[in-house]
Amino acid sequence: MGLDDRESLRVLQSALDDPDRSEALMRRFYASWFYLDDSVRELFTPDMARQQAAFGQALRWLVTEFLAQRAEQPVAFLAQLGRDHRKYGVTEAHYHRACQALFLALRTELGDRWSPAVDDTVTEALTLIAGAMSGAAEADPLPPWWDGTVVDHRRVSRDIAVIGLQLEKPMPYHPGQYVSVQVPQHPRRWRYLSAAVPPDPQGFIEFHVRAVPGGLVSGAVVTDTAPGDRWRLSNPHGGLTVDRDAGDVLMVAGSTGLAPLRALIMELTRFGQNPRVHLFFGGRYPCELYDLPALWELASCNPWLSVSPVAEFYNNPPWAADYPDPEPPRGLHVRQTGRLPEVVAGYGGWSDRQILICGRPGMVLATRAALIAHGADPGRIQHDPLVE
Ligand SMILES: Cc1cc2nc3c(=O)[nH]c(=O)nc-3n(C[C@H](O)[C@H](O)[C@H](O)COP(=O)(O)OP(=O)(O)OC[C@H]3O[C@@H](n4cnc5c(N)ncnc54)[C@H](O)[C@@H]3O)c2cc1C
Ligand code: HEM
Repeated sequence: MGLDDRESLRVLQSALDDPDRSEALMRRFYASWFYLDDSVRELFTPDMARQQAAFGQALRWLVTEFLAQRAEQPVAFLAQLGRDHRKYGVTEAHYHRACQALFLALRTELGDRWSPAVDDTVTEALTLIAGAMSGAAEADPLPPWWDGTVVDHRRVSRDIAVIGLQLEKPMPYHPGQYVSVQVPQHPRRWRYLSAAVPPDPQGFIEFHVRAVPGGLVSGAVVTDTAPGDRWRLSNPHGGLTVDRDAGDVLMVAGSTGLAPLRALIMELTRFGQNPRVHLFFGGRYPCELYDLPALWELASCNPWLSVSPVAEFYNNPPWAADYPDPEPPRGLHVRQTGRLPEVVAGYGGWSDRQILICGRPGMVLATRAALIAHGADPGRIQHDPLVE
């Protein structure tokens, strides 16, 4: 019966749905895996809690999909996960031991509920998972990662840096996409960053990074990064896009959420005719609107683009004097004071627009809700996945 055996899938689900059991299962799985294959431990960071939670969540979702007899989305997800796993140095050989350890952990966790039918279902599920992941990894024609050297690091505000990177070979991605990044200060802690420029045939790429409070990687990128640092990039993801035939565009960028929208705007400048694009660019203080000079240059050459700066506070903090002053040059809209969701929605209906929102998850959700309340069509609003 294998994956068609709903009763066995429900037994399997019972070990994953309960948070305490799932946590115990994950701990047991990784402990027995590291015991079976001691070359694997060093691929992971010392703290495993985040990883255990992510792995448990993925398995839970997969079993729910198997129970609903859906195959298309799980296979697509596993294929993507397998291609992504190449950046960790995962090879086909690793999958065998991983499945062996997971099988043992499940059998122990399920105890009395384990039966020949459950054995069959678990074996089939693990064969499918490992096969889809390793098969897609094997078939991917792209390299697992792209290495590059930091050629520019500008501290444009206290908490924000602009980083220019020269890749050894150009990376194919679409404007608006984000990539997975590993920096030398924190090996093995991959983070997503959005490219702030369209793909460049010579391999130059730019990122805008804001240090979040207590943030491990973002803090190191803003304060400790220097030209010469070697970064590793992987896996372009995301589907933010402007349809040039689908009417005017509203873009809302909170802080470094500007990066993907800026790449899309730069891409549009290649065309003579474009829909009107109105960009709201927001930060906490006026001094944090770090890219206004570049946006002003873009708007002054491209009449279809208008830019409205928005700051939460009217005055700058004392530390602003230590960083470049991004005061909007004349010709840009007057800066407004307030939070992005209220300021943007305050303009009334944007119901006829394609809308792209980028920034912290809280800001994206609040702006989305405010715009929908003012008549925006939810089906025309785009944003990246809301994970921190
Ligand atoms: C699709 C996508 C694209 C992204 N693009 C960019 C980008 O272009 N530029 C950029 O600066 N960041 C971007 N991020 C966020 C980035 O990937 C990291 O999550 C962020 O830099 C924090 O990593 P960290 O290691 O410093 O924090 P961690 O050490 O992982 O987390 C420390 C604390 O900070 C909180 N935290 C994590 N992320 C945020 C956040 N964004 N805002 C506020 N608090 C947070 C966590 O909840 C935790 O409490 C993007 C995220 C996603 C999902
Ligand atoms: C058996 C199927 C597997 C599944 C379902 C799975 C699932 C996941 C998930 C959901 C994540 C978190 C998302 C991500 O960062 O990509 C992850 C991360 C990771 N996986 Fe797997 N994985 C599998 C097999 C493997 C194998 C065989 C290895 C080999 C060593 C491996 C090594 C890693 C590493 C190193 C990470 C990053 C951990 C970190 O950030 O510290 N995985 N995996």
